[in-house]
This record gives sequence, C-alpha cells and structure tokens, in this order.
Amino acid sequence: MSTSPAPIIIDTDPGVDDFIAILMALRSPDLDLLGLTTVGGNTSLGNATLNALRTLRAGGRPDITVASGAAEGRTRPFIFADHFHGETGLAMELPLPDMEALETSAVTWLAQTLTNRSDSITLLPVGPVTNIARLIEEHPEAANRIGRMIVMGGAVDCPGNATDCAEFNTWNDPEAAEIVFGFGIETTLIGLDVCNQVAFTRENIREGAGPGRLMMDAWFAEHPDSKEFHLCDPLAVAVAIDPTLVQTESISVAVDTSDGPERGNTSRCTGRGADGPPIDVALEVDVERAVRIISALAL
Ligand code: RIB
Ligand code: CA
Repeated sequence: MSTSPAPIIIDTDPGVDDFIAILMALRSPDLDLLGLTTVGGNTSLGNATLNALRTLRAGGRPDITVASGAAEGRTRPFIFADHFHGETGLAMELPLPDMEALETSAVTWLAQTLTNRSDSITLLPVGPVTNIARLIEEHPEAANRIGRMIVMGGAVDCPGNATDCAEFNTWNDPEAAEIVFGFGIETTLIGLDVCNQVAFTRENIREGAGPGRLMMDAWFAEHPDSKEFHLCDPLAVAVAIDPTLVQTESISVAVDTSDGPERGNTSRCTGRGADGPPIDVALEVDVERAVRIISALAL
C-alpha cells in the first residue's frame, strides 16, 4: 500500500449519494482530491455545480477546485431525478461557500491537470460520462494520461434503475458511455451489480453525527416508504481506497445507443460486433466492509 495519498478527480452530478462520496474523498487519508468537475444528470448543471461547492464547504475544504462541464448529453437533454435527489439535487439546504467554480471549463481543466502533473491520477466519473467523452475527443493525449478510471455506472448482469434495463448514468448519455468504455483507459466499472447490495438504512446510520448523517436523515424523512439508500457513488470512492472490496471480471461492455426501450443498456459483448477493450466489471462486493468504510468516512 503506497504511503502518500492517491491523487483523484471526481466528475459528479451532486446528487445525494455524490455528496456522501465527496465527503469520503475529503476525509480519507488515502486520497488527495485534486478537484471536482460537474455534469448535469441528477439535477441541472447549475444545481450540480452549486451543490459541489456546498459539499466542499460542508466538508471543510472550500479551497478545492470546481470546474463546470456539460449541461446536457451528447444527443439529448439530461432527464433529472428530482423525485429521488430533491428539486435542488440535495435533500437538505446547505450554505454556499465564498468560492466560485472556475471560469475554465471542466474539460479544459481536466486536460490541463492531466498534462501538467506527472503522477498517476485516478478519475472517478459518478454521473453521466459526457465530460469524459468530450475530453477523449478533444484531448486524447491528455485522456491517455489517466492512470485508472473507476466509473459508477451500468448494470451488466442485473436490471437497471432508470428503466428495466438501463442504469441512470449510462441511460442519460449512452453515446458518451460507448466512447468512454471503448477508449482503452484502465477502467473499473462499479455498476448496479454491486451497488444494489450496499446501502444505508435508518438503523445503520445511527452512529453518525456529521453532515453525512444529517443529509441521510433528511433523505429518509423525504422518502418515508424507502427502507434503503443505495450507496452507488460512495462505493466507487470506497473501491479507490480499497480495490479488494470488489471481485471483478474482465468484460467488453456493449452500450445500447438506440432510441428503443433498451437505450442505455450495458451488456457483455457478444463477440459479433467490434468489441471494445475489456474493462474490469465489479460483480461481487464485500458488503459489510464496504458499508463500514463508507460510514466511517461519511457519517
Ligand atoms: O444509478 C446511480 C447513479 O445515478 C448515481 O451516480 C446517482 O448519483 C445517479 O447519478
Ligand atoms: Ca452521481
């Protein structure tokens, strides 16, 4: 295990679980959060960017860079998840910091950061991967400098959560996902295959007393019929801290980019078409250890 914290960048659409994931990154001694790039998805880009700034203030790090990215997908507007994350994208109101997002766009800041640093950066896209696809198209040499990507998205051997067959992030920009999965960057995919097993409940958040606990109390109050809150984005950060939390299989993942009912579906390539490079798809998770790591850092 390396002693110095690993440099990471989170591309995010906060979003309640994004909020928990960012808090974890701020508090983990194993990670050095270089910045947040924002994308629409759970909520509008404007809300996502404000929420990223709010989260950094809540986590005591208003100094960390925020760069704003895509307001819509490659071929159509994002479909927000107000019903789940709330109209502002978060379940409770948080104070705004004095800092503002950069004037520089997310893609430009990503390209500059990847080019100017010599260390190996882990990129964690936890929303639609629209910014990452644009980075690959406009700055392929910078994209090739990404050490590893840990992507929260997809549902390979299980049903979706946005539709019967598509997970929300890939459903909101499947064209971008196809570009990102096909580019050849070392990638770990944290999809619903494992995220559906890792959750907060009203019981297992009781030890917490920080902003993460307050946010979860607010979310459960807004969703009285929900027994679980799936920790999708937080699991991606937990895997950045401890990759042994998941068992992966090397799979070439096909993304359905049709306009049909399967749009956004992610499946094992059949070998008929031009299969993309294999990526490490997480299919099993140590649930108890994952919840312990997430709770210790975020609640
Ligand atoms: O399907 C879960 C994913 O969609 C998470 O990233 C959540 O924040 C939403 O963006
Ligand atoms: Ca997200």
